[in-house]
Amino acid sequence: MADVTISVLDNGPAIVKGEFTVSDGAGNAYPKQNQVALCRCGASVNKPFCDGAHVKAGFAASDPVPSA
Ligand code: FES
Repeated sequence: MADVTISVLDNGPAIVKGEFTVSDGAGNAYPKQNQVALCRCGASVNKPFCDGAHVKAGFAASDPVPSA
């Protein structure tokens, strides 16, 4: 299986890269992509994907991403 990487951006989405499937709560798969940005702020109108609304919403993550 190919590697999947997830990068959590400070005050922004989680970027997922690799070979994976994103499904809704009922198990229905979204169209396959090799990279997605998953919304962490709740403001996207295209959930579960980020649409950039976190910038206008002034999203600030409650816990900063610790250094690796
Ligand atoms: S993280 Fe970008 S719209 Fe929510």
